[in-house]
Amino acid sequence: METKLLRDTTEDITTASQIIRDGGIVAMPTETVYGLAANALDGNAVRKIFKAKGRPMDNPLIVHVSSVKMAEDLHLYKEFTKDAKALAEKFWPGPLTIILPKGDCIPDEVSAGLSTVAVRCPSHKVAQKLIELSGKPLAAPSANISGKPSPTKFQHCVNDLMGRADAIIDGGECAVGVESTVVTLATNPPRLLRPGGVTVEQLESVLGKVEIDDAVLDKLKENEVASSPGMKYKHYAPSAQVYLVKGREFVKFVNRVSDSTTAVVCFDEDKSRINSVTYPIGSRNDYFSHAHKIFDVLRQIDKNENIKKVFAPLPRVEGVSLAVYNRLIRASAFRIINADAYVVGLTGPTGAGKSTVARVFEKNGYHIVDTDKIARKAVEKGSPLLKRIAKAFGEDVINDDGTLNRKLLAKRAFETRGKTEILNSITHPYIYEKALLEIEEYSNKGCDKFILDAPVLFESGGEKYCKKTVAVISSLEKRIERIIKRDNLTHKEAMRRINAQHSDDYYTDRADLVLYNNGEQRELENEIIRLINGEL
Ligand code: TXA
Ligand code: MG
Repeated sequence: METKLLRDTTEDITTASQIIRDGGIVAMPTETVYGLAANALDGNAVRKIFKAKGRPMDNPLIVHVSSVKMAEDLHLYKEFTKDAKALAEKFWPGPLTIILPKGDCIPDEVSAGLSTVAVRCPSHKVAQKLIELSGKPLAAPSANISGKPSPTKFQHCVNDLMGRADAIIDGGECAVGVESTVVTLATNPPRLLRPGGVTVEQLESVLGKVEIDDAVLDKLKENEVASSPGMKYKHYAPSAQVYLVKGREFVKFVNRVSDSTTAVVCFDEDKSRINSVTYPIGSRNDYFSHAHKIFDVLRQIDKNENIKKVFAPLPRVEGVSLAVYNRLIRASAFRIINADAYVVGLTGPTGAGKSTVARVFEKNGYHIVDTDKIARKAVEKGSPLLKRIAKAFGEDVINDDGTLNRKLLAKRAFETRGKTEILNSITHPYIYEKALLEIEEYSNKGCDKFILDAPVLFESGGEKYCKKTVAVISSLEKRIERIIKRDNLTHKEAMRRINAQHSDDYYTDRADLVLYNNGEQRELENEIIRLINGEL
């Protein structure tokens, strides 16, 4: 299909309006995001939108009008209620979509078989003019291919829809940048289904209490039916893994954990203090700028194939930021990290008594994040990590019953240093991701101090997640004694294991603090309490 690229002149918009009247589809700018429009009263035309976007047919579309009067005259709603009118008077034209039981003129393609219809009146002058010149209400979802971020620039539409739409009109950058607020008045009390440019606070000033649908802030639970069908689909997420980072120490945290494959979405003020590639979204308190820029930034990040990890500041859950939060929390698959958590890395050679030390910290209010435990869980039957390990080391490292053949894996992975590194490059990032999420989980439960218990803390680069590191060291005799007892080994076997490890210097050179554990429990406890009250 040939796609006409049009400008925002009267002549070009007239051309677009003729395409609409002829049953074609046109990408048009609105103040929120670009929409892919067709005559809403023509089921065949509307079907073309679903095809062009690759959109599931059970996800209904928003009908765009140029005025309240148009919605009334056409009887788009069964009844344009008093509340709806009050909202429309206050917020139309503008970024608000109102859902009510639908009028008879609405084709099933638009409402996707629901008994309600979503209507909005955009304020962008090109959208207004296109509706007026075509004389039709326009059904229009966001003009992206399904699964991509909504387009906020002409070029985004060109990238997605060249050859798929009859025309694309260049109307510049969309002012708001996130899709409209969607509120349903078909429930009592009214309910917010999607946050956008019109805030909950503004809605409540007209309607009184507005409920916020669960899917706005949280993941849909399994088997839960979405109030808005759009919420059940996998939302846009870049191919890189996005993490939302909360806390005052955002910059320090991202600088500690970033590498050459990291991108950071940040406020303009922080840009110069961040060491990795940055994508600024405006000044810290310019919430409208964050909304305006976020989709463009996500598209830019997706274009850079080097980027594997993205950190972005966690938006507030109020005002227009709620909309940014809602989009980003999905893009990040609900991963939030707490930059302010006080994490102490604990390491040391085998048999030095690390676990005993960890337990003393635990008694003193620290939550223990046990990387060995995470590692064991990571290779349990059915874990996604197992598949990646099997791909790298051969399918036969998985037993017939789906469990890991540890012996065979160890044989292959520890054959050469290169192979060990491959295994580590698969397991370490996974383990630390789980560790950070565990820290977040316990931060939310009120814990603010953590021990990251990691035998290979330094070898795996884990110290970057820690504010301080502690090495536990013990005399050789004590270590041999402990290993023999713990693992039921002979003296020779215990020695062999010790000799395969780093010397004490390796740990003491790197750690901020060193604990000598010579088996005197009281002494050890006192020493740890001294550290907690002093250097830690
Ligand atoms: O800002 C916007 O709203 C943009 C511009 C183009 O107007 N449009 C837009 O449309 O974002 P779309 O289709 O990408 O998102 C509409 C959302 C979907 O999640 C859909 O499921 C929901 O609104 N929706 C539409 N009709 C509905 C209805 N009757 N009941 C519940 N949800 C509905
Ligand atoms: Mg959309």
